[in-house]
Amino acid sequence: MKDSELIAALIKAARRARRHARASFSTFKVGAALETADGAIITGCNIENATYGLTICAERVAMFKALSEGHRRFRRIAIIADTAAPTPPCGACRQILWEFGGDLDIILADLRRETGRHRLSALLPIPFDARLL
Ligand code: THU
Repeated sequence: MKDSELIAALIKAARRARRHARASFSTFKVGAALETADGAIITGCNIENATYGLTICAERVAMFKALSEGHRRFRRIAIIADTAAPTPPCGACRQILWEFGGDLDIILADLRRETGRHRLSALLPIPFDARLL
């Protein structure tokens, strides 16, 4: 498959995953789809709860699902929200994506179109990670 087809499939999977978001407190639904090095797609959505603070973002759900299923190498992640401005990953997600996914391509989109592309290293330029321990 061509890169453009892989990215289209990834965005589609993230849009589908967004429908499962449990976001009754913020009503801000997010979907994510992580592509592994061998082309598998692992999705996530944000999950909020009544104590608010235990909320987990779509990106981390996708990464933790992938790791728990044995995936170890990743290419890119698509992140979907239904907003005018693109929704980039929060700081906590940048850290987790960096530590477990490396310098991923980050594809941002809304319900209709792609809205941006970034390398994770541009979003997290001076990372703290295991190399510094
Ligand atoms: N959220 C994500 O799932 N991913 C992001 O990139 C930004 C924020 C979620 C967390 C919370 O459930 C809601 O969006 C509002 O912050």
